[in-house]
Amino acid sequence: MTDRTYVIESMISAKSIAARIEALAQEIAADFADTDKLVVVGLLRGSFVFIADLVRELPLDVEVDFVETSSYGNAMQSSREVRILKDLRGNIQGRDVLVVEDIVDTGHTLAHVLHLLASRNPRKLRTIALLDKPARRETAVRADWTGFEIPDDFVVGYGIDYAQRNRNLPYIGRVRFTGA
Ligand code: IMP
Ligand code: MG
Repeated sequence: MTDRTYVIESMISAKSIAARIEALAQEIAADFADTDKLVVVGLLRGSFVFIADLVRELPLDVEVDFVETSSYGNAMQSSREVRILKDLRGNIQGRDVLVVEDIVDTGHTLAHVLHLLASRNPRKLRTIALLDKPARRETAVRADWTGFEIPDDFVVGYGIDYAQRNRNLPYIGRVRFTGA
């Protein structure tokens, strides 16, 4: 699986991502205008670049926390079984929380994390996903804000990996397999 040869075709430029994040940050700031200190929760590892850019556009007091869920491993199949590998450091009871995800694919990861965080009684719980692949959805979950809707392609870059490579690309690219 990991030795398959592929090329990466640019799908969303760094410039388009930056412009979209600027616009989304304004909407988020308006939604949390009465929040004292927003808890921004990144889902590791894919959201680390997105969260870094997003919080720097937010004109709000924020604290940053992370959750890590079990992932694809090196395969491209999603799993309905979501496990928490690393939980939040902070208590979110009564707090305003924004969950930051890289991609909503089948939706199982986001559904699981939202269910878990909701059980801790935050005052307000919202979600943002950089990318959404609606064609792949297997749950009813939907992010409150989405950067870009994309087709059912495997993508990398801007924090998102294929077999732990390509997270450092500054843009989002589509993986096209070229050989066996
Ligand atoms: P879901 O539980 O199926 O919604 O999967 C969500 C997670 O799968 C995302 O947070 C990504 O880490 C990973 N994922 C989904 N699609 C892709 C992709 O195209 N490239 C890399 N990772 C992906
Ligand atoms: Mg992920």
